Amino acid sequence: MSEINKLQAKKPVALVTGATGFVGGHLATRLLKDGWDVHILIRNGSVLPEQPEFGRMACHVHDGSTESMIACLANAKPDIVFHLASLFLSQHASKDIDALIRSNVQFATQLLEAMNANLCTRLVNTGTSWQHYNNEDYNPVCLYAATKQAFEAILEYYVQACSFKAITLKLFDTYGPGDLRPKLFHLLNKAAASGEALDMSAGEQFIDLVHIDDVMEAFLIAAQRLLDGKVPVSESYAVSSGQPLPLKDLVALYAEVSGQTIRVNWGARPYRYREVMAPWNRGASLPGWKPQISLSEGMKSLKNH
Ligand SMILES: NC(=O)c1ccc[n+]([C@@H]2O[C@H](COP(=O)([O-])OP(=O)(O)OC[C@H]3O[C@@H](n4cnc5c(N)ncnc54)[C@H](OP(=O)(O)O)[C@@H]3O)[C@@H](O)[C@H]2O)c1
Repeated sequence: MSEINKLQAKKPVALVTGATGFVGGHLATRLLKDGWDVHILIRNGSVLPEQPEFGRMACHVHDGSTESMIACLANAKPDIVFHLASLFLSQHASKDIDALIRSNVQFATQLLEAMNANLCTRLVNTGTSWQHYNNEDYNPVCLYAATKQAFEAILEYYVQACSFKAITLKLFDTYGPGDLRPKLFHLLNKAAASGEALDMSAGEQFIDLVHIDDVMEAFLIAAQRLLDGKVPVSESYAVSSGQPLPLKDLVALYAEVSGQTIRVNWGARPYRYREVMAPWNRGASLPGWKPQISLSEGMKSLKNH
């Protein structure tokens, strides 16, 4: 039996990093629901979500060292690694350098080294549209985006020299139930509840929002491409809605769908330094993937949580 046939015959084993975060948490629970054997890799001090599904996953704790990472991979023996752990900072201060490099470059490189040491060569990696400011092939919006690019460059070594097969999914803005991050809808709900007006920029920047369930489909399709042996080296895809909306229109739509009165002082804040006014639209589409959930439908799903 070929390696691929053997894989298709058994329950595939996934190792997920960043499973205590928004996207990684959704992915780990979705894989479990779909019948995967799910392992998660967390760090000392990570707080596991309270959902009962996490009790059915094998949890490996990384102590920061490469040896510990190699031991975690040896215990998990994954068929595929889904790498989502990352420190996101839209802007950084000098004090953030160590943490940014530690999470987005060092931890991630230790992961690749440990995969190689354990003969695990399939990776779904997570990048960001922010690697493409001004729609350029590479122009990082911020240092966080530069660290994502740095990791992709390191990954290419493992692809070329160690026969890794990798897909990088470049995410845009994501939203959905269970999002505890202080992102747009969170702020809008708070403003609606308090009745206070929210100070915002002029609101003309376009936002490309993809519902978390659509994002999950992209991860599953990418994993299947790898398991089916369809990825000869490395590939990179944009997980975009293809229908970005100006922030002002987005807020108006959310007020309508959620039935809330949301007061905004448009223009009360300046745009951020290197604000993305128009999202990257030159990324390749993942074969077989198309977002299915419209913005208004997705916004309705938020109301029920
Ligand atoms: N969500 C978006 O809209 C979006 C857009 C573009 C790209 N992305 C990418 O998608 C991925 C998931 O994003 P998210 O929004 O779900 O992130 P998130 O909610 O902020 O979660 C971040 C995760 O990374 C882990 N992490 C951070 N630093 C770490 C370190 N040094 N060692 C080990 N784990 C560490 C966190 O673990 P702890 O619990 O231990 O802190 C947490 O599980 C990231 O790679 C992000 O860059 C997301």
